[in-house]
Amino acid sequence: MLLLLSNCSYIFEKLKSIIYFLHRKHYEAMKKTVGFYKFIQIGIFLILFIYGSLLNAQPRERLLMDFNWKFSFGHVWDVEKDFGHGTSYFSYLAKAGYGDGAASATFDDRAWRVLDLPHDWAVEAEFSSLASHSHGYKAIGPGFPESSVGWYRKSFFIPEEDFGKRIFIEFDGVFRDSKVWINGFYCGNEASGYSSFSYDLTEYINFGGDNLIAVRVDASMEEGWFYEGAGIYRHVYLTKTSPLYIPQYGTYITSLVKDSKAELKAQVTVANKYLEAKSFELVNKVIDEQGNIIASGKSETINIDALDHIEHTMKLQIENPSLWDIDHPILYLLETSIYQKGMPVDEYHTNFGIRTIEWTPDRGFFLNGRHVKLKGSNNHQNHAGVGTAIPDALHEWRIKQLKSMGVNTYRMAHYPPSPALLDACDKFGMLVINENRLMGTTDDVTEYLKRLIIRDRNHPAIILWSVGNEEWMIEGNEKGEKIALYMQTLTKKYDDTRPVNIAVSGAWGGGISKVVEVMGYNYLRHGDTDKHHALYPWQASLGTEEGSTNTTRGIYIDDFEKQYLAAYDRPTDGFIPIREGWNHYAPRDYLAGMCIWTGFDYRGEATPFRYPSVVSYFGMMDLCGFPKDNVYYLKSWWTKEPILHIFPHWNSIQNGSEERDVWVYSNFEEVELFLNEKSLGSQTMKANGYLSWMVKYEPGTLKAVGRQNGEIVKTVELHTTKSPYGLAMNSDRLTINADGEDLSVITVRVEDEDGLMIPDAMNEVKFDISGPGKIIGVGNGDPVSHEPCSFMEKINTIKFHNWHEKTANKVQIQELFSDQFDVSDWQEALLGEGQEPGTMVEPTVFRSQFFLEDDDYKFGKIQWNYRSIGEDQSIYINGFLIAENISGKTKQQTFELDTTVLNNGNNVIVILASPFVKPHKWESVNTNPGLLAIKHKAPQWQRRTFNGLAQILVQSTGLAGKIELKAKADGLKEAKLIIDAVQKKRRPYVN
Ligand code: GAL
Repeated sequence: MLLLLSNCSYIFEKLKSIIYFLHRKHYEAMKKTVGFYKFIQIGIFLILFIYGSLLNAQPRERLLMDFNWKFSFGHVWDVEKDFGHGTSYFSYLAKAGYGDGAASATFDDRAWRVLDLPHDWAVEAEFSSLASHSHGYKAIGPGFPESSVGWYRKSFFIPEEDFGKRIFIEFDGVFRDSKVWINGFYCGNEASGYSSFSYDLTEYINFGGDNLIAVRVDASMEEGWFYEGAGIYRHVYLTKTSPLYIPQYGTYITSLVKDSKAELKAQVTVANKYLEAKSFELVNKVIDEQGNIIASGKSETINIDALDHIEHTMKLQIENPSLWDIDHPILYLLETSIYQKGMPVDEYHTNFGIRTIEWTPDRGFFLNGRHVKLKGSNNHQNHAGVGTAIPDALHEWRIKQLKSMGVNTYRMAHYPPSPALLDACDKFGMLVINENRLMGTTDDVTEYLKRLIIRDRNHPAIILWSVGNEEWMIEGNEKGEKIALYMQTLTKKYDDTRPVNIAVSGAWGGGISKVVEVMGYNYLRHGDTDKHHALYPWQASLGTEEGSTNTTRGIYIDDFEKQYLAAYDRPTDGFIPIREGWNHYAPRDYLAGMCIWTGFDYRGEATPFRYPSVVSYFGMMDLCGFPKDNVYYLKSWWTKEPILHIFPHWNSIQNGSEERDVWVYSNFEEVELFLNEKSLGSQTMKANGYLSWMVKYEPGTLKAVGRQNGEIVKTVELHTTKSPYGLAMNSDRLTINADGEDLSVITVRVEDEDGLMIPDAMNEVKFDISGPGKIIGVGNGDPVSHEPCSFMEKINTIKFHNWHEKTANKVQIQELFSDQFDVSDWQEALLGEGQEPGTMVEPTVFRSQFFLEDDDYKFGKIQWNYRSIGEDQSIYINGFLIAENISGKTKQQTFELDTTVLNNGNNVIVILASPFVKPHKWESVNTNPGLLAIKHKAPQWQRRTFNGLAQILVQSTGLAGKIELKAKADGLKEAKLIIDAVQKKRRPYVN
C-alpha cells in the first residue's frame, strides 16, 4: 500500500488536506485525550478509510442547484425596501466579505418565499397599462421599482471532505444585471440577461459548514423589444473539481469527415489552481451511444505553472462514424480525463456530433453532402404559464411541436439560448442558427459573442452564427460594414467551422449586406433577393425572417374591439402572407431556406395592438403551442404527411356573414368539398398552395375529400357541435420521471356529448391536484387574457414601528398592554444605530404596537421571526409571555402565534432586554426584532378555456407515485387524469 501511496499524488493531496483539517480542528485535542499510541492507531485507520473511499471517489461532481431557494423583492432605489443593502459603513466594495443587507450571510430570510428554479417573476406579475408594451405589459421595469429587483438566497452545506477541491457556481442565465455574493463576499456582476456565467467560490467556502449564496437581480432595464422575463430563469449548478481541472466549456471538438472516416481534433483547456506548478497527462476517449469506446488517446506529460491554464489538442480517428443528421441525431461523448501520477483527478464530459455542413452561394445548404432546404422558425424562449422559466422537458416538447410541423431549423431570435434548449435541438435533430444579442466591436460588447461561441461550439445542431439582427442604425452604412467585418473575423477566431450571418431588414445591396458571409433577408417587403444575389453572387443567403402574419387561434372574423384577428394567412401591415414568402423561397436554389416569424406566439410585441393585448399574434402556434390553422399550410408543404385541413370551424360565428370563406390546406392533388353531403366542387392543388370556397353557412357537416390520382385517400369532417357537455383532458406523456424536474403538458378541452371539441367554448375551469405533482403554470393562448398564469401562496409581513423604551426599574409590565397606555415620556428606540461602544446599559423595556387586518387575522397562524436585540430578553404580546430569558447568543428564534394571544385589530408587544453594545464604532449590532410573517394560502388553480382549450403544466415534486389531476367547470362533466411519476435515477442535486 505504501508503494501505491508513494505513486499517487492525488491521494497525497487529499491526505494533506484532511490532515490539515485534523490538525486544525482535532489534532491537539485528540493527542491530549487519547494519548499518542491511540492517536497513531486512529491515524492508520483513517488512512485506510480515506484510501478506500478515494478508490471510489468521483473526480468531479456537478450538482443541480435549482431547489429550495428563498426569494423576495427588493427595490431599485429605496434602500430600506432593498433590505438596507449597500448602506453599511464599509460596503462590499470597500472590504472583502462585507456584503450587507440581503447579501450578508447572516441576513434573516425566514419570511421569504421558498421556490425552485427556473423562476421568472415577471410571469407572476400583474398586468398594467403603464408597463412596457415590449414586455407584454407585465408590471415590472421603468415605473415599477418595487417589482423590478429580486433577491435570491440559498443556503447549502459543503462537507469537510471537500476541502482541497475547487467549488464553482454556474448560472445558465439570469435576467438581468445580477450580482452574486458567497458568504458575504462579492463574486461579480453579470450585466447580460442571456449569457451563462460562473464564479469560483473556493476560498470563501466554509468546508464542513453552511454556506450562503445571495443573488441580486435587477430587471428594471430591457435588453430587447420582446418579453424577457425576470429572475434566475435557467439552471444553476454547483461544480466541484480538483484544483487541476478542465474549466466549464473547456473543450472544443471539430471533425473532418472523409472516405468513411472522421478525424477529430479535441482541443482541451486545463487550468491549474494549485499555488505551485504541476504536471499531468490528458486522456481522451470517444464513446458511442451504446457505451463503446471507439477511439482514445493519451498525451505526453504536460507541465503547467501555478494559476495558469494551457490548451492541448489531440487528434483521434473514427472509422465509419454515424453522422448526426436531422432524422438520425446521433451523438458521441468525449470523456476527457486529467491524470496525475497515474490517478485520474478530473473527468469532463462533452456531447458532440460528427457531421459536415456546406453553405453554397448558388445551391443553398448541404448537411452531410445532402441538400437540405431550411424550413425554419424564429422563436423567443417563453411559454404560457411559466414565461421564460422553461423546464427542460418543456423545451423538448416545444421542439417536438415544431418538428411535427416540418420545421428543421430554429433561429434563436435574438439572444444566446438556454443550454437546455440547445441540448434538445441536438437530441431531436433540429438545426440551429445561434444568435448573438448586440452588435459592436468594443471588448465589453464582443465579450458576449465570444462567450456564446465558446459555450456552444460543440453542438452539432448549430449550423450558423448570427452576430446581429436588424441593426437599423448601421445596417445600410459604412459603420455597419466595418462592424460586421470585425465581428465576422472575431467569430472565426473561436470557431471557423460555421459561417457568419446577419439578418438585414433594409438597404439590401449596401452596408452589412455587402460583406456578410451568409446574407439574412428579413422580409421580402424590403427588397428583391434576386437583385441582391446578382450583385453578390459569391454570397450564400437565406430568409432569416418572413411571414409576420397576425392571427388568433380559432378566430375567423377580425374583432378590433376585442383585439382578435382572423386566422387566415393574409398580408398584414405590408408583410406578405406566409405562403407568398414560401413561394418565393421554395423554388430559388440560391436561397438556403426561410425562417417564419414565428413558430410560437410570445409575450410582448402584440403588433398591431397595444394594451390590453399582451401577447404577440405572429405564431403558427399560440403561446401554449396549440396549432393555429397556418400550421397545416406548413405541414402540407414541409412534411410528407398526407394533410387535409378545413377551416373555419362549423359553428355559427356571431356577427359573421352568411357567406363563409372556407380554406383547405392540403398536399393532395385534388380536394372536393361537401356541405351536408352536397358537393361544392372539386379543385386542383398547386404546389405550395391552398384552396378556398365561398360557402353559404348552414349548420351540419362540412366535409373535404382528398384525392391522389383520382382515388380518395383521405376524408375529414367538421361538424356543428352541440352545447357544452363535459371536460376532457389529455397529456403528451402519462408517465414522467419522479425527479423534481420532468413535466407533463396537459390539454383540457370542452366537448359536446359526442366528444367534439367546442371551438368557441370559454369556460372557467378549476383544477385540483394530488399526489407527487404540482401545477407550475396555466394558459390558454388568448392574447388578451389578463388571468393569472400561476397561483401562489402569498406571504404578508408586518414590521414593528414606533418602538419606545424606558429603563426597566421604572415600569410595571402588566400596565403596558392597555391601548390607552401613554408613551409620551418614553424615548424612541431601536432606530438601527445600537448602543455606542463603552455605553453602560441597564435592562430596558421596549414597547410597540401592531395592527392585524381581518384578512391576516383569519389565517390564525402567524409566525414571528424573532431576532435577538439584546442579552437575556423576555417577550410579551398582549400580556402573554411568549418567551422568557432568551440569551443574546440565540440570534434567531421563530414563534408560532395563534389567535389565543393575538387580537383582530390592535396588539401590544413588549420586550424586556439589555440592549447590545457595538464593539466598534463602525460595526453594527442588531436592533431589529424581526418580522411577523402571515402566510395566505394559494388560491385554487384555474383558467378559462379560450376557443375550447386550456393548458396545464404539471411537474414532478421529486417523489414517485400517481399524480391525480381533476378539472371542473360549472355545469360540465368533470375530467380526471392520472400521471405516473416513476422513480428513475435523478441527476445529482444540492438539497
Ligand atoms: C422584426 C424583428 C423581430 C420582430 C418582428 C416583428 O423586425 O427582427 O424581432 O420584431 O420584426 O414583425
